[in-house]
Amino acid sequence: MQTISSIPEMQTRVGSLRAAGKRVALVPTMGALHDGHLSLIRLAAGRADAVMVSIFVNPTQFGPNEDFTRYPRELDADLQKCEAAGAHVVFTPGAEDIYPKGFSTFITEEAVARPLEGVSRPAHFRGVTTVVAKLFNIVRPDLAVFGQKDAQQVAVIRKMTADLHLGVEIVVGPTLRDADGMALSSRNRYLTPAQRADALSLGRALRRAKEMVAAGERRVDRLVAEATHLLAQHRRVRVIYAAIVDRDTMEPVREATPGKTLMALAAWVDEVRLIDNEPL
Ligand code: PAF
Repeated sequence: MQTISSIPEMQTRVGSLRAAGKRVALVPTMGALHDGHLSLIRLAAGRADAVMVSIFVNPTQFGPNEDFTRYPRELDADLQKCEAAGAHVVFTPGAEDIYPKGFSTFITEEAVARPLEGVSRPAHFRGVTTVVAKLFNIVRPDLAVFGQKDAQQVAVIRKMTADLHLGVEIVVGPTLRDADGMALSSRNRYLTPAQRADALSLGRALRRAKEMVAAGERRVDRLVAEATHLLAQHRRVRVIYAAIVDRDTMEPVREATPGKTLMALAAWVDEVRLIDNEPL
């Protein structure tokens, strides 16, 4: 496995792979890799000849009071994990290369990015789409792999990719959960054991919604009421949103439709902001 931090070197490396007829996959990450990321790398390895993993803590997708400075950075451990999972190249650009002095061009998706996360984190998806478009331009992958855990991010990236004719196949890997139902996330490490115990209610609320839909419930108000009731039993949990939405547009729906809708949750667990979702 090779580690490359220079953009021109990355372009040359990918150019030679493509010239040799190799199918190239990109797994964009911000590092602090957990088993969820590794499952995405393995998924990419099963579908491409060459797997590129990018590790870049992207400053433009963090709000002014968010956790950019304390976001975990652990490159050595990440590189070992990437190699074990089957990555061929890890791309670790510097912020000054991705956003050179005077940088003033952003990509904004203006519909799917609006609801849910877009309400409380208004500049977040602009940062995500901008950096992902840059990574696509640098790596020019045939396919890129993202996790279902960030369902709205997936929908926004799909829309951007289609709208801008980027020609990258978007592949989505399922959310990985610990045995207790907690969705794997780099931010889980911020939780104390007591906070984590309360945070498990997010996964429980989603499971309950899924069970209710499987038993025939379609009414959105019933599903949301049950989920918020479960969450409200935990004093550290404050719900930011609990919504049943169309999985492509992220717009609220009138009723749950299996295969087309998902329940999306965001909550503060004390000062830690968590998101989770479940296709219904
Ligand atoms: O999901 C993430 O880790 C990030 O939002 C991404 C896609 C790597 C863009 O910085």
